[in-house]
Amino acid sequence: MVEYKIYNKSCYGLPDVEDNSVHALITDPPYGISFQNNHWDKSLPDKQIWVDALNKLRPGAFGAVFSAVRLMHRMMVDLEDSGFIIKDVLFWSYLNGMPKSRDVALDIDKELGVESKKAGTYKYVQGYKKDGAEHYKTEDVKHKKTPASEKGKFFKGSGLGLKPAYEPIILVQKPLEKKLSVAQNMITYGTGALNIEQTRIPYEKGEGKVGHNPHPKGRVAANIVRTDAFEDGYDKFFMVPKVRQHAEDYNNHPTLKPVELMHHLTKLLTWEGQLILDPFMGSGSTGVSASLLSRNFTGYELSEDYFKIAKRRLQEAHDTLF
Ligand SMILES: C[S@@+](CC[C@H](N)C(=O)[O-])C[C@H]1O[C@@H](n2cnc3c(N)ncnc32)[C@H](O)[C@@H]1O
Repeated sequence: MVEYKIYNKSCYGLPDVEDNSVHALITDPPYGISFQNNHWDKSLPDKQIWVDALNKLRPGAFGAVFSAVRLMHRMMVDLEDSGFIIKDVLFWSYLNGMPKSRDVALDIDKELGVESKKAGTYKYVQGYKKDGAEHYKTEDVKHKKTPASEKGKFFKGSGLGLKPAYEPIILVQKPLEKKLSVAQNMITYGTGALNIEQTRIPYEKGEGKVGHNPHPKGRVAANIVRTDAFEDGYDKFFMVPKVRQHAEDYNNHPTLKPVELMHHLTKLLTWEGQLILDPFMGSGSTGVSASLLSRNFTGYELSEDYFKIAKRRLQEAHDTLF
């Protein structure tokens, strides 16, 4: 039977974890982008936590660290400076990111003291899917505007950003023990390689097997990870907030990660019975995945409210199994 240990305190120092004991680091730390004005997301974690995590990992152990496009370069430098080897960057791609742009041409009108023209009305509709049903919320009627100044007209349609459709996950590794080969390191510590076997993508029904020597379990998983099926006919108002559709009603964590996605990382980085560490567990998605896939788990969360949610989710995951 696997175990989980969770702590409602700051992760710095990871005082409750034995050195060289952890098989994988899987974590979604603050991105430093003040997401939805959350105070805990104002800055990137101090580099010290990566030094701490490295000490707790077994030689050759892998880590998967979520990041944001705008600041992943800083996170990568911090991880590398702390002693990790950067192995890859996985792209978790999804379709329901909202473009956070605005019509700059209307701002130009305002700046020039020209009133933009009214160009009809629209109703703002928000939609999401939960338990198989679609829910829509229509807000007040809003006015459409079009630029009226000459400069505004020239720059009509200019904006500030693209629709976000992926989040990077930095794949890192603690160096192998000196003088050990990968095989020797695996024998000694159970770490040093990825679990490719468990994450193979099965061939589609009716699809001919590819290559000269196709593996019966399917293809090797790519570094692009999808949780949505990509279809041309995707309806842009069918914009499910990334994971709310599968969330428990009591889970209000703003940056909740889908358990399905965490399962992929759990399977890729570990084998059954191994120990996963998440210093920034939020509502505990890493731990839920670890428990459901028979891995041990240690997690830290600073906020009491999020900790309570994580505790309940982990308990529920364990209750379904044991
Ligand atoms: C991006 S969220 C993780 C969300 C998580 N993946 C989930 O699915 O719920 C990061 C979490 O780190 C927590 N946090 C920030 N600083 C911390 C620290 N020093 N120690 C422990 N937790 C911290 C925040 O409260 C926040 O809940």
